[in-house]
Amino acid sequence: MEDKKRTLKDKLAKSRLGGGQERIDKQHAKGKLTAWERIHFLLDEGSFEEMGALVTHRTKDFGMDKQVILGDGVVTGYGTIHGRQVCVYAQDFTVFGGALSETHAEKICKIMDMALKIGVPVIGLNDSGGARIQEGVRSLGGYADIFYRNVMASGVIPQISAVMGPCAGGAVYSPAMTDFILMVENSSYMFVTGPNVVKTVTNEEVTSEELGGAQTHATKSGVTHLTAGNDIQCIDQIRKLIGYIPQNCEDKPQDMPCELNDEIREVLEGIIPDNSNQPYDMRQVIDGIIDTGTFFEIQKDYAQNIVVGFARMGGKSIGIVANQPICLAGVLDVDSSKKAARFTRFCDCFNIPLLVLVDVPGFLPGTDQEWNGIITNGAKLLYALSEATVPKVTVITRKAYGGAYDVMNSKHIGADFNYAWPSAEIAVMGAKGASEIIFRKEIVSSDDPEAKLAEKVADYAKKFANPYSAAERGFVDEVILPKDTRRKLIKAYTLLQDKVVNLPKKKHGNIPL
Ligand code: COA
Repeated sequence: MEDKKRTLKDKLAKSRLGGGQERIDKQHAKGKLTAWERIHFLLDEGSFEEMGALVTHRTKDFGMDKQVILGDGVVTGYGTIHGRQVCVYAQDFTVFGGALSETHAEKICKIMDMALKIGVPVIGLNDSGGARIQEGVRSLGGYADIFYRNVMASGVIPQISAVMGPCAGGAVYSPAMTDFILMVENSSYMFVTGPNVVKTVTNEEVTSEELGGAQTHATKSGVTHLTAGNDIQCIDQIRKLIGYIPQNCEDKPQDMPCELNDEIREVLEGIIPDNSNQPYDMRQVIDGIIDTGTFFEIQKDYAQNIVVGFARMGGKSIGIVANQPICLAGVLDVDSSKKAARFTRFCDCFNIPLLVLVDVPGFLPGTDQEWNGIITNGAKLLYALSEATVPKVTVITRKAYGGAYDVMNSKHIGADFNYAWPSAEIAVMGAKGASEIIFRKEIVSSDDPEAKLAEKVADYAKKFANPYSAAERGFVDEVILPKDTRRKLIKAYTLLQDKVVNLPKKKHGNIPL
């Protein structure tokens, strides 16, 4: 028996060593952690249980029968984060560059199936040279098996992908179909074709980092939701993210203890400038409303004219979508609409109430926007907010103009509570633009057109640059003082916590993609 026990011990030790000490040292030299180390930092101390440590590939071609490594390049298993169960897989770059074989894929599929069966988040730590070249189509089939599971799990359990090394070719489509992607700066990249192929096909000269590094995807493409300076910071962000979200679509996020002793927030009174064309940082409003220090921003550097992220309100997790006046005056455009729509969908999938903060001058005009489909893309946000059945609360801090008023969680598309600050201006457009259109003839024929315009602008502003027309109609439920916003919202969310909405029976809707 002792011999048999030693055999097992030896096998597990071998599996644990992956591609060997030399390759582990190489991984460390690049500033990267190994798969095991990443899992160690990700999960609560001592909670990890591995599955499939003894799995090996089945390939005999190209001398692979002589290169058999236990575990086959991916560590899979389960454990806890903040005491809650998660399933996890981490690709091991020290084994065939983390390349995905048929059996490697089977291990990932097995842990995904487990996560779906029991209803817990699945976290993938990606670090791979792509399809295992020696296996050909078997490896491609393995990817498709994972993609299919990503789709089946979408909206049922949260799926999180960290890209902590190469992720190229077909491999990108698994992270792409998960809810959140995190990337590590300077050591990870994602692209469908690398710089060499790009050079051949389009004659562009570009480095891996420029083409698909963390900064590129955080600022230009919006592919990644979060970036981190190194592996540890990336893992910390995953742990933080998990803290705001539930285990599955039938669960609710965990509440955090919160002392409700500061509901009146005087700081909110001084944020909106007197001049309505002057910008201010909407993050100040967010910080003024939420539980102190709980804002966790998502896609911070992409489409900065809208801010999205998680926060806590009276200890409860909420999702925030907010126009950002300091960037493009908070206008809605193609990228910001897509960003906000996707975040809204996530919150709705996973029972996270929404708070929409509105200061929007409208949609961005121009050929660039029209030709890039602002119509279809703006519709994404309208669709997502209309269809969301979670508690939906709106606060209009200043401008709510035109179609963007409707889109930004108006009463008409199903918001439960719509508040406006006294500084709100709810109108078809700004007073100047409106006056120039409807009083054009009168202004042009006047002896002093400038004075006439000013007079008309003042008249229009008096009539519409306020929240009261909307309040008279009940489109705004209440006009409130900024300092009371937190108190009102905590009460609103408490009332709404058991909200039930039944959508019409259908296979699925047809969101404008
Ligand atoms: N299949 C099989 N083995 C692979 C592999 C793959 N797709 N990608 C990497 N490897 C192996 C390498 O042969 C090497 O093995 P060794 O340690 O026994 O020499 C090991 O993984 C590490 O690769 P290496 O090239 O030394 O690492 P690197 O950091 O210099 O480069 C990559 C990493 C990913 C850029 C590079 O390995 C690469 O281009 N791989 C192929 C990518 C690809 O075209 N994949 C298939 C299409 S999806």
